Amino acid sequence: MLSSPLLVTGGAGYIGSHTVLELRQQGHAVVVLDNLSQGHPQALTADVPLEVGDLGDAAFVEEVFARHRPRAVLHFAAHASVGESVHDPLKYYRNNLAAPLILLEAMRRYDCLKFIFSSTCATYGNPQSLPIDEQHPQQPVNPYGASKAMLERVLRDCEPAWGLRSVVLRYFNASGCDPQGRLGEDHEPETHLIPRVLMAAAGRLERLDIFGQDYPTPDGTCVRDYTHVSDLARAHVLALEHLDAGKASVAVNLGTGRGFSVQEIVQAAREVTGREIPVAFGPRREGDPAQLICDPSLAQRLLGWQAQFLDPVEHVRHAWAWFHGPAAGRYQA
Ligand code: UFG
Repeated sequence: MLSSPLLVTGGAGYIGSHTVLELRQQGHAVVVLDNLSQGHPQALTADVPLEVGDLGDAAFVEEVFARHRPRAVLHFAAHASVGESVHDPLKYYRNNLAAPLILLEAMRRYDCLKFIFSSTCATYGNPQSLPIDEQHPQQPVNPYGASKAMLERVLRDCEPAWGLRSVVLRYFNASGCDPQGRLGEDHEPETHLIPRVLMAAAGRLERLDIFGQDYPTPDGTCVRDYTHVSDLARAHVLALEHLDAGKASVAVNLGTGRGFSVQEIVQAAREVTGREIPVAFGPRREGDPAQLICDPSLAQRLLGWQAQFLDPVEHVRHAWAWFHGPAAGRYQA
């Protein structure tokens, strides 16, 4: 194993912390950079150095590179709420586009030439065909998706200019948590479907509001490709191996290839929890496409990745165990 560490930005967040766990299990040395605006230091084990600060702070980023001299970067740190991005686009362009430029400049100075990027299916915009493969046009319909698509473009431009190689991973809906209950999903505020369904099951929400019942889908509610966070974490290790093997830059989708409706997720949660779960049907949420389903075949071909957790009942079971575990669904200070 090479001795310089991997730098994981946003490594104390939801997908980042699951990836750090996977990287450590594979024996990789890791340093986390996180401003803790969404992340939780408790999500990291004591053997993982945590540098607390902001990617937008060039002096801080320089210090981190000088101290650790990372051999590759896995970049998770970003804001990720579609609705918020529509109301505060500059926050998204500052944090998801401008700040990573400082990171890339440091990488260039330190001759660190491998980059693994958390991108999203939101870069495609409203699907013109399903399932969505990587040939689908990228026409994001909100600033969140646009900020990610723009950084993808930056990566493509840096490659011929100074030799940066990247793996761009376009996640579909990340869900679930570590099957052994060591890590979970803890956002403030929580907007995602599965944690909100479980909050309703636990009585922490009066009911789950279902956004729209008139979509052109079998039961009228939106269909998503729920992709287990531990599967996503594993993809990052494969992406690193891809770059370490000297292979070319790639951009791939990460999903299961299967879609489930909001009502099917509620039903899965009823099975797992044994509770009734009150729901109310409300209006559509702005910006929600009716269906997002991934064609994951390129990731399988190029990285050898395939989702293992295909049944959302398992995702919900893992998330529910976290909700009821010692942490009771929250990282404690
Ligand atoms: N939903 C509800 N009620 C809720 C929460 C969600 O009905 O209380 C519905 C949504 O309308 C949507 C589905 O559940 O149809 C999934 O919603 P999430 O908020 O869990 O996830 P999104 O599909 O909106 O967003 C996720 C990621 C984004 C990413 C996006 C790509 O959080 O970062 O997928 O579409 F950009």
